[in-house]
Amino acid sequence: MSSSKKPPGSAAPGEKSGKTPGKTPPDPVRRRRFLQKCLGALGSIGSLMAVYPLIRYIEPPPEAEGANRVEIDRASLPPGTSRTVIYRGRPTIVVNTSDGYIAYNAVCPHLGCVVKWEGGTQNLICPCHGGIFGTDGSVLGGPIPGPLTAVELSVTDDKIIVGV
Ligand code: FES
Repeated sequence: MSSSKKPPGSAAPGEKSGKTPGKTPPDPVRRRRFLQKCLGALGSIGSLMAVYPLIRYIEPPPEAEGANRVEIDRASLPPGTSRTVIYRGRPTIVVNTSDGYIAYNAVCPHLGCVVKWEGGTQNLICPCHGGIFGTDGSVLGGPIPGPLTAVELSVTDDKIIVGV
């Protein structure tokens, strides 16, 4: 048997066989980098899933078609209490103060949180950064750039009507 009659794929030491190897051993560094990228991607997705509900809570709903008129029974809003309704797609706070009814777009002009009525101090407060508004909508404290936006309101014998 001559040396030119070798089986396919065989080669003497230092000689190329002319055939590409079938399987190379896995590179542990490449595999580690791939796994790190996969874990990073999963971590990012998990973080977004955790933060999304928080963002949805803080961010008011986009301007949308909503009720152009909201009616509230006067009996359901005793003095010193408030109610938040959705008017024209935006949260709107209606308060029965000692001086009468007021209504404001409840979206804080700072970063858009929804303001609440605080009966004890008779102020509207923003829970996000401590913004404080008076019953006239003016800024009393906090990092707020401007007053609340008033919403039209009318009162009948038994109803409070937001959006005349
Ligand atoms: S969002 Fe209201 S004070 Fe910052």
